[in-house]
Amino acid sequence: MYYSDEIIEQVRAANPVVDVIGQYVQLQKKGANYFGLCPFHNEKSPSFSVSPSKQMYYCFGCGAGGNVLTFIMEYENYTFQEAVKTLADRAGIALPEEEYTPERQKEKDLRTQLMTMHKDAAVFYVHSLKRPEGAPGLAYLRKRGISDEMIRSFGLGYAGSRPDTLYRYLKQKGYSDEILRESGLVTFREKGVTDKFWNRVMFPIMDANSRVIGFGGRVMGSGEPKYLNSPETRIFDKSRNLYGLNAARRSREKYMLVCEGYMDVITLHQYGFTNAVASLGTAFTSQHGMLLKRYTDEVILTFDSDDAGQKAAIRAIPVLKEAGLKIRVLNMSPHKDPDEFLRALGPEEYRKRIEKAENSFLFEIRVLKKDYDFSDPEDKAAFFNETARRIAGFSNEIERNTYAEAVSSLYGISYNVLKEQISIIGNQGPLRTAAEENTRPKSSVKKLRSAEYGLKEAEKLILTDICTDPALFAKISKILASDDFSEGLGRETADIVFKQLEAGKPDPAKVLDHFIDTDQYREVSELFASSYADTLSEEEHAQALKEAVLRVRNQSLDRKINVCTDPNELMELLREKKELADIRPDFLS
Ligand code: CTP
Ligand code: MN
Repeated sequence: MYYSDEIIEQVRAANPVVDVIGQYVQLQKKGANYFGLCPFHNEKSPSFSVSPSKQMYYCFGCGAGGNVLTFIMEYENYTFQEAVKTLADRAGIALPEEEYTPERQKEKDLRTQLMTMHKDAAVFYVHSLKRPEGAPGLAYLRKRGISDEMIRSFGLGYAGSRPDTLYRYLKQKGYSDEILRESGLVTFREKGVTDKFWNRVMFPIMDANSRVIGFGGRVMGSGEPKYLNSPETRIFDKSRNLYGLNAARRSREKYMLVCEGYMDVITLHQYGFTNAVASLGTAFTSQHGMLLKRYTDEVILTFDSDDAGQKAAIRAIPVLKEAGLKIRVLNMSPHKDPDEFLRALGPEEYRKRIEKAENSFLFEIRVLKKDYDFSDPEDKAAFFNETARRIAGFSNEIERNTYAEAVSSLYGISYNVLKEQISIIGNQGPLRTAAEENTRPKSSVKKLRSAEYGLKEAEKLILTDICTDPALFAKISKILASDDFSEGLGRETADIVFKQLEAGKPDPAKVLDHFIDTDQYREVSELFASSYADTLSEEEHAQALKEAVLRVRNQSLDRKINVCTDPNELMELLREKKELADIRPDFLS
């Protein structure tokens, strides 16, 4: 059941975000906003903010964010429709009977069609594996030691050697070229249409609800690329899906095993570790973190033992920690990955390794140590200083002590000396966790200038500010259009907000309605929650906003210049860039 935009707005307007969330969370007014303990992750000091002017909430600790409807969806585990119904009831609004806006209907139809097509394709590949032509595929899987039960439960299949059988099959099922083009399962070229996958063993990729949304295909034996994956589509977003999650979410273990490959997941499940998942050939994102956090509080990383695997773990740890997950790192040496380990040493040995899995902080320190030469006193001192600095970063005293203890016994430094250094560093300024860093940026705009926070923070600041103070829009829109925002969510959001402002009034809570179906509303809420807006002094804030506007416009021009082939256009772009560089410093006043 879909409701019209008007009804949804009526329901939202009748349910002020502070009143509704106030029924679940104790809120305290601080400046223009309200703060409380986040209901979506464990915390001791409040980083969950609710903004009456934006009618949104955002947690600086875990990144949960949205409007009053998404709050009810997440808190009560309701669908969008159920949330609308609950809040309509709360406000005594009678809901109309079934209604679809054409736009929503179209998006929904396309997604449904793509899902059905993927299911058809998966069935097709499964059948191919069973037919005589599938013999090489089956032989390969058997050689890898995959049991028939796993072949069945993971829906493994086979793409044969003729390059267009799937295309013809799907055409005959009635799918149009238009939708096939969107699926990523076939490639359209001038010479004709070919299947994306052939001569490969096929791994269907499913979302948490076991709906097929993409495929990975492995060559049998050696060949390049080893794995070929579906491109991202309307239904396949690699940064918010994990291979094996549909099965792993049913596991009763308190933790999840996170590994690197399809084959690792399957072998782990085969040996009884049904709580294993893997990313889809991409780095871990905060969305992966939040996705995992829905099902577990602890993650054990079981990445490849080589350098690349270790680097991947070092990158994944802060990202997953940010979601509030506890993390440990499992050591598989001398074997490369879970698949090889289990086949060589068996599940009992693997279970022992789980028990021995290392605390992620100590793992990070151990990796750090590799960069220092202990035979050189200077290097050694530098290592301990860096270690002290990192320990000083824990906001909890007991934690600081236990880590100092562990490091002192592992690396042979006196506990007292290390403690002393930690408190010296600690006294140089208030210590902050990563989450607190976000809510209280270092007094100046330095951080905003740094590359890592750069563009996205700039875009966030602009969106936050024009929604809070619409008068700014007239000035900013002289320099910046919504298509100057970086491609993807940033631009989509800016598009809507700019249109709202042109028509008169911003309504960030309403913007989120556009993204509820695709689950992207969290990221979009983040765009309206620049921490700079509330924490900088007025002067610094004004400066930061100016820099943000210039940065977004400048990078947009650079992107255009990079792809520009027309000399006249190029001249014009360069002229605009020059003009931007010479802009009056008071262009926002
Ligand atoms: N991967 C990929 N594309 C490649 C290589 C790897 O997408 N060309 C992804 C796949 O998800 C793969 C994972 O990275 O499962 C790990 O890759 P790798 O360690 O090379 O392979 P294994 O999982 O060990 O695969 P196998 O055991 O089948 O050799
Ligand atoms: Mn492997």
